[in-house]
Amino acid sequence: MKKEISRKFCVAPMMGYTTPYARKLYRILSKNSFLFSEMIATKSLIYSKNRENIIDNDFNNPVALQVGGSEIDELKKASEIAIDYNYDEINLNVGCPSKAVQKGSFGACLMKDKILVRNCIEALQNERIEATLKCRLGLGRKLNYEFFEEFIDEISKTGIKIIYVHARNAILSGISPQANRTIPPLNYDFVKRIKNKFSKITFILNGGIDNLDKARSLLEEFEGVMVGRLIKNNPFILKDVDNKIFKETTRLIDETVINNYFEYIRPKLGIESIFRLLSPLLHIFFSVPHGKIYKTKINDYMKDQKINLIEDLLMKFINEKNLT
Ligand SMILES: Cc1cc2nc3c(=O)[nH]c(=O)nc-3n(C[C@H](O)[C@H](O)[C@H](O)COP(=O)(O)O)c2cc1C
Repeated sequence: MKKEISRKFCVAPMMGYTTPYARKLYRILSKNSFLFSEMIATKSLIYSKNRENIIDNDFNNPVALQVGGSEIDELKKASEIAIDYNYDEINLNVGCPSKAVQKGSFGACLMKDKILVRNCIEALQNERIEATLKCRLGLGRKLNYEFFEEFIDEISKTGIKIIYVHARNAILSGISPQANRTIPPLNYDFVKRIKNKFSKITFILNGGIDNLDKARSLLEEFEGVMVGRLIKNNPFILKDVDNKIFKETTRLIDETVINNYFEYIRPKLGIESIFRLLSPLLHIFFSVPHGKIYKTKINDYMKDQKINLIEDLLMKFINEKNLT
């Protein structure tokens, strides 16, 4: 049975960041945010020996497993795996523009073939898990609402209930994946129009939401928002989400968050790379002013696997900058 889950505030899937470890930290900081895994290629999901480390869930629900793929049998298996690992949702990535992903015939290039995407969603659908889609507005430098509407119209035939829209086009050649998150212009209006047209589908708005006040005001028009880089750069933003977005009384979040997180990752040292274990916390050194001096020290400690010193340094930084 599928549970009724709020997707009012979602943390976007981000490769290299929304690892099982990051999700543990995010969940300590916010009880209600809806979380995503990184995109995982269906082949890795099915065949990788490292699968446990990639998709471990550890009851950080509500959470979606995002997959990249377009082979029907693999997608069916991916859905079963997501159920086995207690995910609430399986999501198909139709937004990643990278060359490697295009070569594997998945990601944003699938927007060229709406029938194939429809078949992919049907393959993921299973009565025990919600199958959803994350897509862009279209492809190339020109925005074209009719293209977007025809695409969604085809997908709507699957009975899909939730679609996340990164509200800009993907440009498949000539610019990097990173530039594909800034150069194609955002257009929230297309998402507004599409949600009015397809009232049975919940559209979650993504792209350029760079503070919680903006998220809150967009929630007056949209049923849900999805936020990526804001959280990547400073996960401590999440400590205000339950209060500001879900109107719950504020829980006390203090430096024990860091202790809890380090308790969780310490036994994983040696099994998982120290960078992956620390990556959810490292970006704050870039995003908070004057953090770079700390970053250099942390890098040295990481090389020598000095986890206790890293914890002390992080604690000092977080207290100094009043992040909790
Ligand atoms: C480092 C990084 C990795 C990303 N990896 C994924 C991914 O695995 N799957 C996906 O659908 N989108 C991925 N994205 C795109 C985000 O999910 C999101 O759509 C995009 O960053 C726009 O949202 P924002 O403006 O709130 O950051 C990634 C973005 C970043 C910054």
